[in-house]
Amino acid sequence: MAGAIAYISKDTDGLHWQKILEPALGPIDFRTLRGGLGNKDDIEIALAWKPDQGVLGSFKNLKMVVSLGMGVDHLFADNRVPPGVAVTRIMDDGLIGQMSEYAIYWALRHHRDIDRYAASQKARSWKVEPFKDTIHRRIGIMGLGTIGQDTAAKFAALGFPTAGWSRTAKTLPGIETFHGPDGLAAFLARTDILVAVLPLTRETQGILNAKAFAALPTGAYLINMARGAHVVDADLLAALESGHLSGAALDVFNTEPLPADHPYWTHPKVYVTPHVAGSTNPRTAAPGVIENIKRLRAGQPLINTVDPKAGY
Ligand code: GLV
Repeated sequence: MAGAIAYISKDTDGLHWQKILEPALGPIDFRTLRGGLGNKDDIEIALAWKPDQGVLGSFKNLKMVVSLGMGVDHLFADNRVPPGVAVTRIMDDGLIGQMSEYAIYWALRHHRDIDRYAASQKARSWKVEPFKDTIHRRIGIMGLGTIGQDTAAKFAALGFPTAGWSRTAKTLPGIETFHGPDGLAAFLARTDILVAVLPLTRETQGILNAKAFAALPTGAYLINMARGAHVVDADLLAALESGHLSGAALDVFNTEPLPADHPYWTHPKVYVTPHVAGSTNPRTAAPGVIENIKRLRAGQPLINTVDPKAGY
């Protein structure tokens, strides 16, 4: 039998992955954190989500790590992947679709004043709020990878003027694009609803700070479905307090789970969800993983690879 595949995540027992991989690959020597890793020298492939420091490094014969999240910062945090080991990630259409839904849900809720109508309903008040035309509600997507591009295309299809910002220049049909540090202020200045879907890297950590919030127009709304560490929390709270930002829907946090005493929990302008904007769906993520396991074993070039230098 080929080398073992290890499931390295504390979230679930991982056996659903074995069930989904075996029909395509044949019987697998499948090891899990919960079930026991056995002789670690047998492990050739690790399916990983937030591995503890040192775990991957203890697999002497590891050849490939598959990130079970589309974000890979959990692998690069402090050199958790030993040098020379290939890093790939899931490319999950199910997860990508969920992420777009999350952004569209909060954007429409804000755009259509649902919170004000909910308050009016409580007060039995038949009150019509001022209407803002869709063509005047500018959406800005920060991060134009596969998730950002899908989200941007869907907002554009709904008729919102949509722009995107990315590290390097990109051209996308129907989307105005900005890039690099020099393009950030202009991108923010034209954005009424900011959707963060950036990878977390050294360059993007803390990018949503007082300066960025000040560059947004008054009344702007933030949807963060990227990583908590993109946001300087004190700066976001200050921008909400001052009224410069009208609200925020946050799925990700500097500390997860969000500590019980964190001001976000009870802030009247903040919505909190527990990192669920996009959950890995083994049904839709598995084909790419299967393909890579076959390629690795056949000595062919891998797909969905990650550049450890860029960090995504
Ligand atoms: C979730 O946060 C992911 O990176 O897939």
